[in-house]
Amino acid sequence: MSPFASKELKLAYGITIVLLIVGVLSYTAFSGKVPEEPLRIVYTGAGGSVMFDHATHASDYDLNCTACHHHPEEAEAMLACSACHVFPKDGSLPVACLDCHEADEVGLESVPKSADAFHSQCIDCHKELGAGPIECAACHGL
Ligand code: HEC
Ligand code: HEC
Ligand code: HEC
Ligand code: HEC
Ligand code: HEC
Repeated sequence: MSPFASKELKLAYGITIVLLIVGVLSYTAFSGKVPEEPLRIVYTGAGGSVMFDHATHASDYDLNCTACHHHPEEAEAMLACSACHVFPKDGSLPVACLDCHEADEVGLESVPKSADAFHSQCIDCHKELGAGPIECAACHGL
């Protein structure tokens, strides 16, 4: 190997290491801000526990993220349903809305309350695709 080639090799290693460090730093900066995609969620509400397997729905069943994280249509951050389907007692908008809308620009008239939002999204899709549980006990089974 000529001395020239080994210098180039060192430079290449140097660049690789710098790129690796930049990669790791931007990955940690990025993943710090965005909430992690959950594996599965267990709801323990008034209807009895419901298990929702997020990983299976998002990968194995080949569904788009925005089939569920529906607002806005071109969502960049996947917010929890509970960020928007909540009704502050003082009648104000949920804070999440204010990231994108002026307070006097939108209302909550067409926003269903949380349990209705879940029921209609979960059950409508299962009916539409002819797959997934639609009976009460099949979801509220735990
Ligand atoms: C079948 C419906 C469905 C699909 C498809 C789906 N999600 Fe979700 N996702 C949910 C539900 C339901 C929650 C829990 C929200 C809650 O309890 O308020 C959730 C939660 C999340 C959260 C946590 C939000 C938070 O602030 O806690 C992230 C991040 C997320 N999903 C990302 C994604 C990404 C990325 C995709 C596509 C690869 C995706 N989701 C596909 C239904 C879905
Ligand atoms: C960023 C705010 C936001 C988030 C997050 C959000 N929604 Fe909504 N949702 C709305 C708004 C606003 C409406 C009423 C206007 C409309 O239909 O887009 C609505 C309407 C709905 C409706 C009734 C209309 C329809 O499309 O059938 C259902 C059902 C629903 N949401 C379910 C969900 C579920 C389930 C999740 C979580 C996977 C979720 N939403 C997350 C804002 C949100
Ligand atoms: C991440 C940004 C974002 C958040 C958060 C958000 N919106 Fe929107 N909203 C949009 C965009 C973009 C549109 C334009 C239509 C679209 O893409 O769905 C829109 C449209 C609307 C409309 C017009 C009707 C429609 O669905 O097309 C209403 C009403 C509305 N939003 C209400 C709300 C309410 C209420 C909240 C909080 C519960 C909320 N939005 C949270 C971005 C957002
Ligand atoms: C956009 C479509 C869609 C939505 C929305 C959806 N599902 Fe499903 N779900 C499916 C499909 C497809 C299957 C697969 C059925 C099969 O292969 O037998 C499934 C299967 C299931 C199963 C049985 C197998 C498993 O993964 O555990 C449960 C339980 C379930 N869904 C719960 C839910 C709940 C709870 C919600 C709402 C938070 C929901 N689903 C929303 C499409 C959807
Ligand atoms: C596809 C799954 C699924 C099916 C089918 C289903 N549910 Fe649910 N249900 C849910 C989810 C998800 C929630 C939200 C849990 C939470 O927020 O803690 C919920 C919430 C509830 C709640 C709590 C309401 C509240 O205001 O807190 C009751 C009661 C309930 N369901 C009863 C029923 C009955 C009765 C049926 C049959 C007619 C049914 N559910 C069918 C998934 C389902």
